[in-house]
Amino acid sequence: MDGLRDAVAALRASGRTVAFVPTMGALHAGHLALVRRAREISDAVVVSIFVNPLQFGAGEDLDRYPRTLEADLAALAGEGVEFVFAPTAAEMYPEGAVETSVTAGHVGTLYEGASRPGHFDGMLTVVAKLFHIVRPDRAVFGQKDAQQVFLVRRMVDDLNVPLAIEVVPTVRESDGLALSSRNRYLDAGGRRTALALSEALAAAEAAAGEGLDEVLAEAAGAFGDHDGIELDYLVVVDPATFLPVDEGATGRATVLVAARVGGTRLIDNADIELG
Ligand code: PAF
Repeated sequence: MDGLRDAVAALRASGRTVAFVPTMGALHAGHLALVRRAREISDAVVVSIFVNPLQFGAGEDLDRYPRTLEADLAALAGEGVEFVFAPTAAEMYPEGAVETSVTAGHVGTLYEGASRPGHFDGMLTVVAKLFHIVRPDRAVFGQKDAQQVFLVRRMVDDLNVPLAIEVVPTVRESDGLALSSRNRYLDAGGRRTALALSEALAAAEAAAGEGLDEVLAEAAGAFGDHDGIELDYLVVVDPATFLPVDEGATGRATVLVAARVGGTRLIDNADIELG
């Protein structure tokens, strides 16, 4: 931990910039897109791999979350990543539980936060710790986790964290499925069913000119075409506040969707222009 911090500090002292990509491992092409963006915008890249227990609730998939460290290290070596930080839980949380933590506020209790109470507090707490350990110039996140991105940006602003946040568009399979480490849980049928999320977003985009009600109706309709999927939330939010837009709203908005396919919880989102 100290070695990494010293190496990053030395690079920055010599005028080079450092970009940081926090991950929970089980890396896929979406993560590698973040790493490539980090490389484009900086002289050196740090990637962390840590499955953060603090952001998993009771009964969630902490124990079965995919851990593929060797393959992850090989993939990052292939990208020429200078530093990989893969701490143990004991290194990150030497006292076990934390006494001091970051609270995500109201937006952190909505959507993902409503279904996963405490998730965003745990996520922001570990991200704040990682930012302090690595001390990069920039940190790179994926748009796939839009609410996470909003809350990290908000924390950086609220707490004057001295770094810039860079966001990379969601990487998708050719049929539209957003890449996610949790896609590994899906069998062939579940994977087909999971297309309901990207189909709902495509329907929302197609209906955007007709206004909010039509967007929600068309997007919800995509779920009717699939069995074995349980919609958790489908909401259109203002990207500036992350609160639901009002009836009659126009302009840029973000559609958020979450659903459960068997035991697997999936999320996705898309920006639309409401007419
Ligand atoms: O998006 C993730 O993989 C995690 O939430 C993060 C940002 C690495 C924090 O644990």
